[in-house]
Amino acid sequence: MLKKVKALVKDNTPVAHDIFKMTLYCPDADLRQFVPGQFAHISIPGHEELLLGRPFSISTADAAAKIVTIVIKIIGKGTKALAHCRKGAELSAILPVGRGFLLQDRDKSVFLIGGGVGIAPLLSVIQKWPDKQYEAFLGYRGRAYSYCTDDFSCCNAVHIASDDGTIGEHGLVTALLENHLKSNTPDLILSCGPTPMLCALKKLIEPLAIPCQVSVEERMCCGFGACAVCVCGVKTEQGLDYKKVCVEGPVFDLFKVVL
Ligand code: FES
Repeated sequence: MLKKVKALVKDNTPVAHDIFKMTLYCPDADLRQFVPGQFAHISIPGHEELLLGRPFSISTADAAAKIVTIVIKIIGKGTKALAHCRKGAELSAILPVGRGFLLQDRDKSVFLIGGGVGIAPLLSVIQKWPDKQYEAFLGYRGRAYSYCTDDFSCCNAVHIASDDGTIGEHGLVTALLENHLKSNTPDLILSCGPTPMLCALKKLIEPLAIPCQVSVEERMCCGFGACAVCVCGVKTEQGLDYKKVCVEGPVFDLFKVVL
């Protein structure tokens, strides 16, 4: 049963331009069944007009300590209010929510493809399944927007691309991946990032039939399955089904979800 719990800000640090890493202590949350890809739906403090919470992918989770980290990119009033929360602030949140990534024993080599704030939740994949062989492909707008790059140093390789060429290769992260796939094919690809990146990924890997799970971004209202604001199309054998991203996603099979 999803319910709102207290989330105390233990730390909130700028990690790049307009991007903050927030650490939350949630004494009443049960994180034991946390699955990478799940998110926290966080209410906005100090703005009575902003009734709706905002979804943030959980970047790391410590079930014993009841601590999660999220990455916040300022894009509007709500995210700005959260970015400005200081240590000690008390928020309310529903977490963990949704269906996350699923790795099986047969998935030995895994490529992680992240774009922008979509890079953050991929860290929890490594945290949960440390015995896999990972390669990370990270796409940023530019050096000023890059964060947590070093956190992927445990991967066999880290490939970086940026829109302006100020960090890594100049161009799209999917172009980097395309080059790499000529010599190396993983058992599984996991990805999180903006929809255009996911579309490019689909176009690239569909002919290669590499299994791929993606975390999709969708507008949310309630965050716990009650309002149906967040539905997306998912292909089934019967045709098209509609799923609530908040509770039946945000992770879907790339070849089934309608982007
Ligand atoms: Fe309300 Fe998903 S946000 S059902």
